[in-house]
Amino acid sequence: MFRYLPEQASDFAHKVDWINNLITDISVFFTVAIVGSMIAFAIIWRKRDGKDHETPRIEGSHFLEAVWTIVPTIISIYVAAYGYVIFDEMRDIPEDAPTVNVTGQMWRWDFLYPNGKKTTGELVVPVDEPVKLLMTSRDVLHSFFIPAMRVKMDVIPKQFTSLWFRPVKTGEYRVFCTEYCGRDHSSMLASLRVLSKADYERWLNDRSDEAKAARMKPADLGKELYTQKGCNACHSLDGSRLVGPSFLKLYGKEEALADGTTVKVDENYLSSSITNPNAQIVAGFPPNMMPSFAGQVTDDELFAMIEFIKSIEEPQQAAPAAVVQEDAAALAAMSPEQRGKRIYETKLCITCHSLDGSPLVGPTFKGLYGKSGKLADGSTYVADEEYIRNSVYDPASKVVEGFAPAMPSFQGQLSEEDVKDLIEFLKTVK
Ligand code: CUA
Repeated sequence: MFRYLPEQASDFAHKVDWINNLITDISVFFTVAIVGSMIAFAIIWRKRDGKDHETPRIEGSHFLEAVWTIVPTIISIYVAAYGYVIFDEMRDIPEDAPTVNVTGQMWRWDFLYPNGKKTTGELVVPVDEPVKLLMTSRDVLHSFFIPAMRVKMDVIPKQFTSLWFRPVKTGEYRVFCTEYCGRDHSSMLASLRVLSKADYERWLNDRSDEAKAARMKPADLGKELYTQKGCNACHSLDGSRLVGPSFLKLYGKEEALADGTTVKVDENYLSSSITNPNAQIVAGFPPNMMPSFAGQVTDDELFAMIEFIKSIEEPQQAAPAAVVQEDAAALAAMSPEQRGKRIYETKLCITCHSLDGSPLVGPTFKGLYGKSGKLADGSTYVADEEYIRNSVYDPASKVVEGFAPAMPSFQGQLSEEDVKDLIEFLKTVK
């Protein structure tokens, strides 16, 4: 009766579901029995034909009282005992289970694997093996919930909590934050990828990204991060004004702040601007545009960013698109939609344009291609190829009604070919 539970993907799932379904069924049975009798009695003994139909007066029945005391007691004890057995199993973490560290932060999940590999927003585990999650929070209370595994645990600042599970099938599952933690609580999601043992080993030992980073000079790594972390969307390298101040000749400058004070741009100022951007807003720039990168960059990366900013003494073309740095052969082998999707992800379109219809800083890409609507200046638009191309290169010229002119131009960052790929990708987002 009433089965609406998520997929059973861990060996806890069928046990949790069994007790959950049992309680549901018992509740439904008694609700129907009790409310049904009430309604039936009300009909049978209602006042009709102008006279009362008196109910029989029954006083005391030891048999009935014994039944309605003993039966619910047995049911309650059974439910409590079975529930405890499952609970105990869930709290009894196998000692040989490899530990993945989970850190929650408004509004993302970071994962650290036993060999030092790190991921954000994606937890990868092998199938048929127990895995332990050791969890903490950098800011407020969160709660880590994987419905398909039937596990959930609060994630608490300055304290560790843990849980474990054993996935029984490969696949991709949703992870939710299930403790209200502020504005973007509902988008504090992650995906759980369960791989076969061999795939997992291969994935875990693929450290090519980090190995590359470890061999770089700090300023070069900073340059890479500038594109990777999306700094380039708001900070130019050629002195032009985007959402935030340009990095050109920024280091060493006397900067006037919105609160009327001035500050000399040194390492401390840069570091604080990366980790706590709203503390010192430069005069003439809007507050609350930049997200904090506290906890999102390591100390090494912070140092690398600062070294990079210090190195921008001459106007530079914005760093070449991450897409271009990738293996050309691999890119050539991709379909235009796939390349477009990569651009969407690596050029940080993803931060402002959703694929699921939700409005972020900019209009959603869902169903965008071919759509028509109103612009802020009262004229109308049709989202055809020319319109999209124009929006990429000259976004300020046609701003959709209800949105702020916040998008930087991608002139010089995306080639005509890139834009074509992006359009092909947009066509697939329906
Ligand atoms: Cu984190 Cu809700």
